[in-house]
Amino acid sequence: MMITVESRAGGYAVHCAWGALDDLGALMREAGLSGTVSLITDDAVGPLYAARAVASLERAGFEAAAHAVPAGEASKTLATVERLYDWLLECRADRSSPVVALGGGVVGDLAGFVAATYLRGVPFVQAPTSLLAMVDASIGGKVGVDHARGKNLIGAFYPPRLVVQDTGLLASLPPRALREGFAEIIKHGLIMDAPMLDVLERDAARLLAVEPELTTEVVARNAALKAQVVSGDEREGGRRMVLNYGHTVGHAIEAVTGYGAIRHGEAISAGMMAAAAIGERVGLTPPYVRHRQHALFERYGLPLRHPGVDADAVLAAIALDKKVAAKRVRWVLLEDFGRPVVRDDVPEAVVRDVLGELFAA
Ligand SMILES: NC(=O)c1ccc[n+]([C@@H]2O[C@H](COP(=O)([O-])OP(=O)(O)OC[C@H]3O[C@@H](n4cnc5c(N)ncnc54)[C@H](O)[C@@H]3O)[C@@H](O)[C@H]2O)c1
Ligand SMILES: [Zn+2]
Repeated sequence: MMITVESRAGGYAVHCAWGALDDLGALMREAGLSGTVSLITDDAVGPLYAARAVASLERAGFEAAAHAVPAGEASKTLATVERLYDWLLECRADRSSPVVALGGGVVGDLAGFVAATYLRGVPFVQAPTSLLAMVDASIGGKVGVDHARGKNLIGAFYPPRLVVQDTGLLASLPPRALREGFAEIIKHGLIMDAPMLDVLERDAARLLAVEPELTTEVVARNAALKAQVVSGDEREGGRRMVLNYGHTVGHAIEAVTGYGAIRHGEAISAGMMAAAAIGERVGLTPPYVRHRQHALFERYGLPLRHPGVDADAVLAAIALDKKVAAKRVRWVLLEDFGRPVVRDDVPEAVVRDVLGELFAA
């Protein structure tokens, strides 16, 4: 299945299919790319899939070299970026040489930032391998690295020229990472695709078992949802904001607990529970929204609460979040399934109460 994403720098295609990695080279040719390919991956994904990616590139007439960084968020730093510049220079990569990111969101963000800045920008291709990267990180053009003071503080908008999603790769994804991706998928259903919630409920067992046809269908559907939102609002001035459902509290949980202990998807499932409870308290969200979310997160093994997290610290982190406009926290809340609204008038006392329950032992 093929999806198109609009972007100020030009549109790009997202190909989603079981086995698509073997077509990487051909698809890059079709997209008009040429030159020596620098493939950036990590040391968990590389051993599994880099050879297949390189073989596909070579079949299409590309020369290709691969470089693996250590797997995990700790690689998303300027120090790694510098090492990658060194490697690109050693390989004599020039302005037309494509950089391909083969990995999860960490590799995508990191390689994308390298591609955006090396020689003021070289063609960039995303080959996401995690569920989260397929349905979220690889689409929308946000690239960047972390700073000691916080996540994603250094970055750019740099859309890829092409996204190639091989859903077959999800079969080797660790279960915890797979479940995390479903947090974003459930979020998409809640904010803009209520009919998909039926599918997620009915077919949970088949999806958690990564059944080829259904998995590909759901990944493509979510890639299309994300594409649709960012196509209209690349820089997050308006509609893209709804993607932050559950993320106000979620990001704060991650910041307070020191990125990694509680993973992103696990933070935002609880964050969405908080948003539903807040919405109810201000008379906006009907209780059935919270009940259905609850059941879905349970079904996909995602946490509803995080007992023991410091509520005051989370409140302070929310106030510091970069999404806070003019000192007022902007909450994405649901009036119903598929009907998100942004509210900046939620009383702090309500938030405090809800967080107290979310983190109670
Ligand atoms: N740019 C964006 O718009 C955007 C959006 C959401 C998240 N992100 C970023 O994405 C990152 C999280 O992404 P992630 O969850 O993919 O993390 P990740 O890249 O660390 O991948 C998770 C783990 O799974 C492994 N892995 C990935 N694919 C695999 C496969 N097919 N088989 C076996 N192992 C595999 C990785 O090596 C890693 O150890 C964060 O840094 C976050 O900030 C970016
Ligand atoms: Zn997210």
